[in-house]
Amino acid sequence: MRKKIIAGNWKMNKTPSETVALLNELKPLVANDDVDVLFCVPAISLTTAMETVKGTNINIGAENMYFEESGAYTGEIAPNMLTDIGVKYVIIGHSERREYFAETDETVNKKVLKAFEHGITPIICCGETLTQREQGVTIDFIRQQIKIALLNVTAEQAKTAVIAYEPIWAIGTGKVATTEQAQEVCKAIRECVAEIYDAATADAIRIQYGGSVSAASAPELFAQPDIDGGLVGGASLKADFGKIVNYNK
Ligand code: PGA
Repeated sequence: MRKKIIAGNWKMNKTPSETVALLNELKPLVANDDVDVLFCVPAISLTTAMETVKGTNINIGAENMYFEESGAYTGEIAPNMLTDIGVKYVIIGHSERREYFAETDETVNKKVLKAFEHGITPIICCGETLTQREQGVTIDFIRQQIKIALLNVTAEQAKTAVIAYEPIWAIGTGKVATTEQAQEVCKAIRECVAEIYDAATADAIRIQYGGSVSAASAPELFAQPDIDGGLVGGASLKADFGKIVNYNK
């Protein structure tokens, strides 16, 4: 039985002091040992965020990481900078990074490999545009993203990975994919993982849905057989996130 993983993606929101305040506000609301709870926050707030959640059920993740160990990469974050402060999760290849910061399937793959090398769990993002959905190529496109992201990743590593299916047209738009649409793609992702590796790996990997998840939509989405939680943007900055985390109560 896969444990659900419900992650907030704070994107470029909240200063370090606002981060402390919001985490303290959300702490009592997100207490649910049935699920893994995670907040991915801006790099500048990671250290204080780690200190703020000490002793709680909350994990902290990064929103990005570079695929080199160190060196002349101004502005980038190295994997050992994350592990040094105890960060164990990182979002890789969010559609906003692909759109605004030129990330490709190839850089996503390099980052995924590097994260595993350092024992950091990648949350690997994939998702189609509205045009691709209307063209009927959603599943083909997602399969390609997944296959490239997982190149040279071992089955043992893949078992611990998290994949976030986030249709781009549903991100920040208030337009949630229907439960059927979300389940269909998450199931296709699991089948793709089974093809690459085996049934045991497909059964272990956790697949999230993301895109305008709210307290209202979470229970039905998370009840789907292939949806193991969510990657939540806007709603993770509000008390509502407590209801999303406690969707099963
Ligand atoms: P949203 O963002 O919940 O605000 O749509 C999700 C995401 O981009 O991870």
